[in-house]
Amino acid sequence: MLKLNRRVAALKPSATMAAEARATELKEAGVDIISLAAGEPDFDTPERIKEAARRALAAGQTKYTPVGGTSRLKQALSVKLKRDNGLDYEPAQVMASAGGKQGAYNVIATLFDEGDEVLIPTPAWVSFAEMVRLSGAQPKLVPAPEAQAFRLTAQDLSAAITPNTRGIILNSPCNPTGAVYRDEHLRALSQVLLKTGMWVLCDDVYEHMNYEGRPRHLFAIEPRLKDHGIVLNSLSKTYAMTGWRIGLVAGPKEIVQAVTRLQGQNSGNPNSIAQAAAIEALSGPQEEVAAMVGEFRKRREFVVDRVRSLPGFSLPSVPDGAFYVFPSVKPLLGAKWKGEPLADGDRVAQMLLDEAQVSMVGGNDFGAPEHVRISYATSIKNLSEAFDRIERVTRKLLGA
Ligand SMILES: Cc1ncc(COP(=O)(O)O)c(C=O)c1O
Repeated sequence: MLKLNRRVAALKPSATMAAEARATELKEAGVDIISLAAGEPDFDTPERIKEAARRALAAGQTKYTPVGGTSRLKQALSVKLKRDNGLDYEPAQVMASAGGKQGAYNVIATLFDEGDEVLIPTPAWVSFAEMVRLSGAQPKLVPAPEAQAFRLTAQDLSAAITPNTRGIILNSPCNPTGAVYRDEHLRALSQVLLKTGMWVLCDDVYEHMNYEGRPRHLFAIEPRLKDHGIVLNSLSKTYAMTGWRIGLVAGPKEIVQAVTRLQGQNSGNPNSIAQAAAIEALSGPQEEVAAMVGEFRKRREFVVDRVRSLPGFSLPSVPDGAFYVFPSVKPLLGAKWKGEPLADGDRVAQMLLDEAQVSMVGGNDFGAPEHVRISYATSIKNLSEAFDRIERVTRKLLGA
């Protein structure tokens, strides 16, 4: 038997990437699949950003840069944090990583250790718990139930804290639920967080995909949290730059230095051309972001209406952000498919891929096995056709 490092051996494959890969495989085999599994905007990177990359390439910006990014990029990230989030971070308190994912992992690996517990309000992005486990710490999944519109309350938070709790990862707008913590929710949580002194990691990657007005940043509401707070962000979703791999970490200087040391040993600087493109993305005109968000807003209305009228699906609260809805498929569970009762959201997703040729991600790995995640990062035409197909299948299955 091949012997692997025990933490790597225990690592789960990413459910979201697996769903996308399965859909791609079927598409390549000629099956007419509509994917509602995408975790990335369907828009192209704006031309001005591509042009900046071409210029950087022509100018020979093809060498190593400082590990945490060029000084111009750090400056641009610092300006962004002030402009978009109302947060003061000097360039020495920020760094760039190869995507938000690498930034998040490097921070988690820097801060947490064996014996530490890290709170993750759940449903949550599939990678958080795996990253915490890889660091040697223990993820503690704290339910943020549908009845609370998938938000953790201050009471839930207080009740989850133990002497071993060292941190929490908050993600608003949330992948997979689309839930957004509004100012009053953040204010209530901040009172508990201040008292504990635990590390507060705010994952803001969907910050612009916010359809009911933008809440303030937790660290702007309670600046004292910045002393034990980390901002995790990325250009991936905001600027339709998922493939470019530029993420952002901001926090206390000593922590950013330690994360940079780790990054210096495991990967080095993020791609130099992508860094030049990122400076343009952050510093140039921001209209494309608003246009993309406007399109997502229209789709959200469409998707919420259609999902609510689908037999077998329920979506009690309208998600305020990101580009996902996370309905319950409880009424479908137990219905017979291929001679067996549908056991959970993953099985429902599989059934819909086979019967309706529509892909989505089951809720199991998000910590919500009665749900499925539907992404609306695709055109209304595709969405409309996908829901027609799903409706035909679920009607038949339920005899509705
Ligand atoms: C909640 C959340 N955080 C972070 C990321 C990381 O994005 P990237 O590594 O592309 O910057 C994602 C991507 O799906 C996400 O959903």
